[in-house]
Amino acid sequence: MSISKAATSKVTLPKSIEERLHIEGLVSANEVVIFNSGTDVVQGLTQTPKTLPTHYLYDDRGSELFEQICELPEYYLTRTETKILQQYAGEIARITGPCELVELGSGSSTKTRIILDAYEKLGYPMLYVPIDVSAGILETSARQLLADYPSLKVNALAGTYELALAKILPSELPSRMIAFIGSTLGNIRPKQCDLFLSQITNALEVGEYFLLGIDLQKPKDILEPAYDDSQGVTAAFNLNMLSHLNRRFAGNFDTTQFEHWSFYNEREHQIESYLRSLRSQSVELAALNLQVDFALGETIHTEISRKFDLNMMKQQLTSQGLVPLHEWTDSDQWFGLLLCQRQF
Ligand code: AVI
Repeated sequence: MSISKAATSKVTLPKSIEERLHIEGLVSANEVVIFNSGTDVVQGLTQTPKTLPTHYLYDDRGSELFEQICELPEYYLTRTETKILQQYAGEIARITGPCELVELGSGSSTKTRIILDAYEKLGYPMLYVPIDVSAGILETSARQLLADYPSLKVNALAGTYELALAKILPSELPSRMIAFIGSTLGNIRPKQCDLFLSQITNALEVGEYFLLGIDLQKPKDILEPAYDDSQGVTAAFNLNMLSHLNRRFAGNFDTTQFEHWSFYNEREHQIESYLRSLRSQSVELAALNLQVDFALGETIHTEISRKFDLNMMKQQLTSQGLVPLHEWTDSDQWFGLLLCQRQF
């Protein structure tokens, strides 16, 4: 190339990570109530039977332990969903066309890469909107993604699904797909599920897409080890909720005096997880001005993980205006991936 040509040709430099990253923290009066004041803890620990809100599983340590759970031999969910995504992401991308990808509960965004790769392969512009309550994880994974995908733009939202869904602006790209994978829908109580799905519908324009990953019903001898693994990682994950409460609310839970307990409730089609007191004991949460008494063997209910019937889920989605266009499963039919479109 001659010098004069080189000097005159317009060179477009790739944009820096800072130019392609936007992070917004969503704060509302409500959020203070949910995440800081601990009224939900007081409510849960003063009722019979005792419960604690599932979101307290996810402080930084809890998120780290969840990442470890995803790698466990017994926890088939992540592996199985990943395989389905690897097989069908190209098809998903061809159906949706160029599309903003919104992900609820994005965490480390590992599986998202499979979808982004499919969009990149088709030469589509890439815009990713991860939503997570943990601002730390959100920023770390967004930066890693931006380093790996030079044409990607990330508009991250730190906050609850509700706040974020109510807040997202119309897509900058021709369409939008909200992804809710990993069977996190299973952690939402059946009674709250319709409300949650209606929030998804409202965040989409007619014609836009919803990608849902759900764990399917299967025998208890496969399900139960997935939630009580031989290395004790799931137990540590559940017990960490007490350490989280200690830190947050000046508590004195002795984590060695509780144990993880979970079982598959076949009638409700859900794994139920509890923390069980190993002796009669009193615990104080000074910042909440709360003393809680436990009898030997008394439990705190911490989480449900629902296992779904694909056809029933399709009906429920349809009734919320999210019409299933395609469904994919693995050869054992352990996990399901549904691509839906808002139709009214
Ligand atoms: C995040 N969620 C879908 C997991 C599940 O399978 O319910 C959380 C989990 N709890 C115990 N192990 C994994």
